[in-house]
Amino acid sequence: MLTPLGLLLSFAVPVLGVYVSVSCPRGKQCQRALLSGNDILLHCDSPGAHWHYYLAHGTRPSNLSSVSNTEITPEGSLLLREPLHSQTGVYCCLNRNGTQVAQYEIDFQDVTRLHVTHKDLGQQPLQNETLFLGGKELIFTRWEPWQDCNRCEEPGERKRLGYCYIEEPLEEPTPCWLYLGEVKLWSSRLRPEMQVEACTAQCADGEPLGVGYITFDNFQLNQESESVWLSCPLGSIYRPVIWEADETPLTWQRQLSGKAINTQLDLATGGRQLQIFQPAVYRCFVQQELMAQFNPRPSPEALQAQKEWDEAQLQEAGGASRRKAGSVLTGLKLVLLAGTVLALAGLLLRFCRPSRGRRRDWVVLVK
Ligand SMILES: *[C@@H]1O[C@H](CO)[C@@H](O)[C@H](O)[C@H]1NC(C)=O
Ligand SMILES: *[C@@H]1O[C@H](CO)[C@@H](O)[C@H](O)[C@H]1NC(C)=O
Ligand SMILES: *[C@@H]1O[C@H](CO)[C@@H](O)[C@H](O)[C@H]1NC(C)=O
Repeated sequence: MLTPLGLLLSFAVPVLGVYVSVSCPRGKQCQRALLSGNDILLHCDSPGAHWHYYLAHGTRPSNLSSVSNTEITPEGSLLLREPLHSQTGVYCCLNRNGTQVAQYEIDFQDVTRLHVTHKDLGQQPLQNETLFLGGKELIFTRWEPWQDCNRCEEPGERKRLGYCYIEEPLEEPTPCWLYLGEVKLWSSRLRPEMQVEACTAQCADGEPLGVGYITFDNFQLNQESESVWLSCPLGSIYRPVIWEADETPLTWQRQLSGKAINTQLDLATGGRQLQIFQPAVYRCFVQQELMAQFNPRPSPEALQAQKEWDEAQLQEAGGASRRKAGSVLTGLKLVLLAGTVLALAGLLLRFCRPSRGRRRDWVVLVK
């Protein structure tokens, strides 16, 4: 059932791709543990392909066209948006002629039960545990490699994901819910893990994701809940992500030690989403590249002050025409000065963009 080749496959994190994808050599079966709640692309290189899906240990295939969070790309791959834990099962890619060209056995482990620990806070990952279902089964965590550091040339953090596996003596380990299938078993040990540690890294000269970055203007804190969720484009639990609030990094260490009061990184998306309780300029980076900046809507007081200042300027300009020419000149100088300041500010903004890897110079304003 299980090919060692399939297990050796690492994540093909496409440098330029929007989605994190897993792939399996043509004609092979792959078994993978992944996390629910995070988009994933199951690769199949067969234009016009269709996909069948079997529940874990189920018998009847279901038609994936009717499942709302799935989409087949023109190349034939299957995109699962925020897959559910209950979508654990077998996914088969069939070409136009109905021949199976790829098969994935995927265990979407429940991200809401993620056990998160920080090495630098001395928090311990889960221990191995023995089950007695029929024989003597061992539950353990199989760790993925560490992801890249989320910042470079400055202290950052990196994370790694660990999946729940069950191993019988003399057998290959199997992702827990593929092993258990229909068996309903509750154990606090049956959960995926995430471990975080501090890191420092050199800035890579590698190809940037090449998407430029996006500025979202005027987010506003909600009156009722007094919080807003921000979402980092291209962010994923499978990729290094970091947020900054007014240039201060929002670390897992801060959050996991209970020091984060005004922000909350979302565990279930590995920090792709950030809940904020206070206005500030928020920026997020994926693979050390600036992805988005979120500017708060100015407060009513700030807007009022701006309005008064504008009116004062207008009055000064208007009054000047009735007074001496010298004042007009002063007014004009002021306007010119203001223009220069603005232009300078513009230039500064252009040059003061944080440079973490190269990127294209475009900014989209979302009102
Ligand atoms: C799957 O469902 C879609 C739409 O509901 C339909 O067009 C397609 O023919 C079905 N495919 C199979 C293999 O049943
Ligand atoms: C489908 O079958 C036809 C005829 O048997 C063959 O010529 C074609 O190459 C096949 N296509 C694929 C994608 O396998
Ligand atoms: C837990 O089990 C795994 C798989 O058998 C093994 O590789 C690992 O060393 C064990 N860890 C401990 C602390 O015993």
